[in-house]
Amino acid sequence: MDKKFRKTVIAGNWKMNQLASGVPAFMETLTADLTVGKGEEAVLCVPFPLIPAMKAAAAGTPVKVGAQDVSAHDKGAYTGEVSADMLADLGVDFCIIGHSERRAYHAESDELVNEKLKVLLAKGITPIVCVGESLEQRDAGETLRIVSTQVQAAFQGVSAEEARGIVVAYEPIWAIGTGRTATSEQAQEVCSFIREYLAEKVYDWDTSKAISILYGGSMNGKNCAELLAQMDIDGGLIGGASLKPAEFASMIKAGSEDA
Ligand code: PGA
Repeated sequence: MDKKFRKTVIAGNWKMNQLASGVPAFMETLTADLTVGKGEEAVLCVPFPLIPAMKAAAAGTPVKVGAQDVSAHDKGAYTGEVSADMLADLGVDFCIIGHSERRAYHAESDELVNEKLKVLLAKGITPIVCVGESLEQRDAGETLRIVSTQVQAAFQGVSAEEARGIVVAYEPIWAIGTGRTATSEQAQEVCSFIREYLAEKVYDWDTSKAISILYGGSMNGKNCAELLAQMDIDGGLIGGASLKPAEFASMIKAGSEDA
């Protein structure tokens, strides 16, 4: 089974929700009876100001802490930006880049995503690179072209060895926050295409088999087991459902069975 070559990653994306003051109570409920598998990572990607509270609350638990963005610059006169160095200094292990909301509202281009990916790798933070098509693009039959362009650009100039430490999240834009999940067949089709593309057009099968590819878009406690059972779906990037500790714990448990 190919899945033994890579980790199952269940990552919550809190987006711009929750407060630092609410983190201890959330984490108490989440971790009360938490099962994280041996080959599994449980991650919460939180807004920057919540990172210290989340690090403190996650200490001694298997939960890892992630950010939702990073500056492509190292340091200096970039008002409002947060560097990879700052994230590493706080003990951040993962960072989402290229989320469709950032691509849409903050002009995050494929080139910028590639720059961000490289600054994260340089600081030992695992990038979670998001790719995915809009509804118009899907309807026009452009899904695989869009996704391959985004993957190709994100991995530009990244060695095979470095690529093994990168997580890809396939998030069809039409499924994000809409309650309209991709079917497990639709999600598997694109995740398997991404794996094949990485194996045949960018690296090789050994490298591609080691890369965790997640699905994201209205994944929840009810539909996650079926999605995770797919051959090329190695976890989830979870928005809304990660704000509910009991439901998110059940998804981490489902991931542990799949890991
Ligand atoms: P959702 O968000 O689970 O609320 O659809 C997923 C995401 O945007 O990462």
